[in-house]
Amino acid sequence: MSTGKPRTPLRSIQAKNYRSFVDVEVEFGSFSVLAGPNGSGKSNLLSVLQLVRDTARTDIPTAVDQHGGYEQLHRATGDAGPIELTIKAEVTENASSGAPDEYILTLDKDDAGIRRTEDFQYKRTAGRGRRLGFALEGVDAVKVQGNRSNKTSSLTLTDARINAHWLGEGPSRFVSFLSSIRYLDPDVPAARRPSRFDQRRLAPGTANLSAALQQIYDAAPDAFRELVRDLRQCLPGLDSVGFETRGGDAHVVVAELHENGLRRPIELADASFGTVRMLALLTALHDPDPPNLTVIEEVDHGLHPYALDVLVDRMREASGRTQIIAASHSPTLVNRLESEELILCDRDPETGESVIPVLTAGQLAASRGTSGRGLGELWYSGVLDGVPSVG
Ligand SMILES: Nc1ncnc2c1ncn2[C@@H]1O[C@H](COP(=O)(O)OP(=O)(O)OP(=O)(O)O)[C@@H](O)[C@H]1O
Ligand SMILES: [Mg+2]
Repeated sequence: MSTGKPRTPLRSIQAKNYRSFVDVEVEFGSFSVLAGPNGSGKSNLLSVLQLVRDTARTDIPTAVDQHGGYEQLHRATGDAGPIELTIKAEVTENASSGAPDEYILTLDKDDAGIRRTEDFQYKRTAGRGRRLGFALEGVDAVKVQGNRSNKTSSLTLTDARINAHWLGEGPSRFVSFLSSIRYLDPDVPAARRPSRFDQRRLAPGTANLSAALQQIYDAAPDAFRELVRDLRQCLPGLDSVGFETRGGDAHVVVAELHENGLRRPIELADASFGTVRMLALLTALHDPDPPNLTVIEEVDHGLHPYALDVLVDRMREASGRTQIIAASHSPTLVNRLESEELILCDRDPETGESVIPVLTAGQLAASRGTSGRGLGELWYSGVLDGVPSVG
């Protein structure tokens, strides 16, 4: 998609009364890694992006249902106010860092149903001038009549696509951005299976890994060569990656690994967990035509420290084509990061609320100082825990 926009469309997420968040605001660069202990809120933050993506792909009540329902999303304390999610991004034509697009989704529940408000502000003209804003409100009441459930709902931002003539092109572009977000959490057993020949855009869960990989092989040979070079760095003994197509009714393709010293190639079905997962991540990262934003859940899962080094370099490089936000637990991975690439997450043990970021990029840089130690080492040794007295 050539919108002429920098590949850092997402500027920040603010979440109030949502899951483990009372009120957090997190800013992102072109490549950001969320690191923190189990239950600190990394996945909760990424789920904000999944939720708004799904509201853009379907509609608000359907997306809320898919994510477990309002009660599941609302912070489970008696006195929490409505859920309020704010996304700031540079997506529409005249957006800038000083005047980003701003989308606020508010969800509340009363006897009538889920009450929602969407506020959208964007700059409609170039040069000076204020952002234009409008709000869309509605109640998504679910009335169960017999076995049928009727959802009544008024206009939503998603409808802006159809209403472009009076809302302008901005909202529709913003909705396209949200719906294009790629969320990567490779489903390794699915990725191992042969994939249909005609489904070549990397599917959610990377279920069509072989076909998506072959698409890169066909359409971008240089990118494919680099991908194999990356994989070879992680898998000693790998020579090349090939494909076997099987005709007949099924008409499928399966990727195969050619390893040194073996008489026959190894199908993905027989490749190791980490190999398949790494291959899935590399396929997304070498995609020559990626979406504007790629989110990677538990990026280090199942991978050797050497592979993490390769991955960090590759994510950083790919962030020139697609903004990347990844979650990790790994000090080894964090060790490779620059201060502005790390978002430390933690949780207040008393209240259970997430604290994100624990330290600003400036505070991280100051903690690191001239110690010559990596951020992962400092984090693991406890130096970065809580809020130390720096800055
Ligand atoms: N509705 C809710 N209200 C309050 N807290 C919630 C709610 N939903 C989830 N949580 C809290 O959020 C925690 C999960 O956070 P999350 O999944 O984001 O952790 P994480 O940092 O991704 O951890 P991991 O590294 O284990 O994946 C749960 O353990 C729970 O305490
Ligand atoms: Mg998680």
